[in-house]
Amino acid sequence: MITYRSMVLISHDPASIQLGADAVQAAFLRELARFDLQDEVSVSLIEDIGKSFASPLVIVYPEAVIYGRVTVEDVPHLVEEHLYKGRIVEEKVAPSHELSGRVAWVSARKGTLPAETRIVLKNVGVIDPNSVEDYIANDGYLGLGNALGMTPEQVIALITESGLQGRGGAGFPAGLKWGFVRQARADQKYVICNADESEPGTFKDRVLIEGDPHQIIEAMLIAAYAVGATEGYVYLRGEYQLAIQRMETAIAHARSVGLLGDNILGSALSFNLHLHTGAGAYICGEETALIESIEGKRGEPRSRPPYPTTEGLWGKPTLVNNVETLANIPPILRHGADWYRAYGTPSSPGTKVCTLLGNLNVTGLIEVPMGITLREMISIYGKGIKDGHFKMAQTGGSGGSIIPASLQDTPMDFASFARAGVVLGSGALLICNDSVCVVDLARVLLNFFRKESCGKCSPCRICTQKAYEILTDISKGRGSMGDLDALREISIQLNELSNCGLGQTAAVPLRDTLTHFRDEVEAHIRLKVCPAGVCSMS
Ligand SMILES: Cc1cc2nc3c(=O)[nH]c(=O)nc-3n(C[C@H](O)[C@H](O)[C@H](O)COP(=O)(O)O)c2cc1C
Ligand code: SF4
Repeated sequence: MITYRSMVLISHDPASIQLGADAVQAAFLRELARFDLQDEVSVSLIEDIGKSFASPLVIVYPEAVIYGRVTVEDVPHLVEEHLYKGRIVEEKVAPSHELSGRVAWVSARKGTLPAETRIVLKNVGVIDPNSVEDYIANDGYLGLGNALGMTPEQVIALITESGLQGRGGAGFPAGLKWGFVRQARADQKYVICNADESEPGTFKDRVLIEGDPHQIIEAMLIAAYAVGATEGYVYLRGEYQLAIQRMETAIAHARSVGLLGDNILGSALSFNLHLHTGAGAYICGEETALIESIEGKRGEPRSRPPYPTTEGLWGKPTLVNNVETLANIPPILRHGADWYRAYGTPSSPGTKVCTLLGNLNVTGLIEVPMGITLREMISIYGKGIKDGHFKMAQTGGSGGSIIPASLQDTPMDFASFARAGVVLGSGALLICNDSVCVVDLARVLLNFFRKESCGKCSPCRICTQKAYEILTDISKGRGSMGDLDALREISIQLNELSNCGLGQTAAVPLRDTLTHFRDEVEAHIRLKVCPAGVCSMS
């Protein structure tokens, strides 16, 4: 392996690409060659997280200096001064306020925020996602090596001991699910990575794949070994073009170095991995609709049981795990269950990658230990409410709970949230100040659900449409008190009669609006007033 004295990392997220990151990379390579530094300084592209007003960023190690808004014209000077003469170019150093819009590792290391706890995002923004060598140099595929030295049953026992719960929304114990697939008898089994991520406001899986795709491939190899699968699919949201590119490259590299294919690392494990892109339907994130979609059918959920663990893709036992769930696997195999359980809470070990959105001073992506409260998230990482006061939060994406300020001290873990009747879901946290109207929020959410309902079962198809119409009436001053009973009844029917999680979760915002914000809804009906001043009432 080549050792370099300096590293240049160039941010390569969609915004940075638009602002010329590729040309900046080419200019660095050119200028380094001109100074004969190509064997001393490496140039890599890294994933950038969250909002930065200074993109594209160029980070130079070992000094960890961050240059902002770097253009092709800046590069000759940066190379000559910093990399040739060893002098930092102060006038191009990104001011910290331009980085403070990012809940990211850079701002943590600048001392503007407490450092995050990084398990699954450890490499994101640090290694070159297009380089299998970079991943291997950062302990990559070590977890697979450890797994191959164990029996499949021991691997599953380790995942069970770690207490890892699925991060796709429901928090189902990963070890238990792996055990079900292992026990199923069949001539063929599959592993699927669910990277559909069509939940509005959620983009954690995209960043995990764009920033560290080999971590997911390694996890799928470990899963395949544990459950006895030989074929796998990454089901990736079609709009995620950069993630698709990165995953395609990573799969090709893994194949070229013998990490995919037959007898991997000289073992008995053989595993082929395919990439399947979705066409933009929210319902295709539901695991059985996803399986139908891979089979080339219309993406509609199946009736369950049977579950995919026994009858999944092409009728064979199939393990479906979320991207973030899988991203936890290699670190657990590297460090063990006790190490993992040291993070988070006893009932929900580990971390959660969350997207902080809405009326906050700082928004973006963050990895925090399970058990942190919403109040801490808002004050520490969100740097407080932007304009006005904290009114409510929606946790877990569009099907998540709408919770009032009084619940902001609930620890954020699956068990505590469930006790408080709150859904943790995908980890999207939409924070609203008092300029947001709860009726309007619920109306927008139900509009989403009525459009995304696949229409297979009538409770979901009819109730989401009806709830949207009632909420629209209320927001226009045409509501009646009877509408409150109708909405309550609709939420019960959605929850109890829907065939899948889409209809069931559509009930949640309705239920929470009526439980926590009834006064505000009544003001729309009785007084024809929108207290937040959002609804036109005409
Ligand atoms: C409407 C709907 C959309 C979903 N979308 C996703 C998704 O985008 N990604 C995901 O991992 N799980 C999604 N799920 C949950 C999956 O059905 C499944 O539970 C999950 O992939 C299991 O992975 P886990 O055990 O690792 O959490 C969705 C569920 C529903 C009902
Ligand atoms: S609940 Fe909705 S999305 Fe799910 S199967 Fe029924 S109609 Fe389709």
